[in-house]
Amino acid sequence: MNELIEKAHFETIMALSEALDAKDSYTAGHSRRVMQYSARIAWRMGMGEAEFGQLKKSALLHDLGKIGVPDAILRKRDKLSEEEFEVIRAHPGIGADILRAVESFRPLVPAVYHHHERFDGKGYPDGIRGDAIPIQARIIAVADSFDAMTSNRAYRSAFPAEAALREIERNKGTQFDPLVADAFVSCTRDMVTDILKDSFDEPEYYL
Ligand SMILES: [Fe+2]
Repeated sequence: MNELIEKAHFETIMALSEALDAKDSYTAGHSRRVMQYSARIAWRMGMGEAEFGQLKKSALLHDLGKIGVPDAILRKRDKLSEEEFEVIRAHPGIGADILRAVESFRPLVPAVYHHHERFDGKGYPDGIRGDAIPIQARIIAVADSFDAMTSNRAYRSAFPAEAALREIERNKGTQFDPLVADAFVSCTRDMVTDILKDSFDEPEYYL
């Protein structure tokens, strides 16, 4: 793709993700932060450039299917019923269906469709496990959980970042790919250490 088209493509994705986050004040900025955390993990894991670009787009659009979930369910403060959970669990499939309809978005389908799988196979929609889950989806799963834990939600207030990092470590090998979890925890801790030492250079993946 030439540079101008690629830029327009990325901006379209940014706009779509911002429209989605605007549905709910609790999710403002969520997609962008999930992209930034995902990029940080991929950088640390040495992901190739083409895959890295796809990952950033997939991370921005991971919850696109929530467009098809009624606000009354997304914003509910009380415990969800089993039927309501079923509706929420449809969002990766809805997102994948929307993306599949646009040829240039098709490469993003696997990461978006599988972002709620768990490393131990107890996730959804397909319940696949380990390396069978696309690496991009395993990365988005860690980034998404960290952002969910460190943000206020309708039903609870945010965890401190350190508690969220410990929670990610505690769920290595069950919910999360251990290599992905280690990459995220170590680079996040290193970044805090560098900031405290005043030697933090903003990596180019933030730009
Ligand atoms: Fe999701």
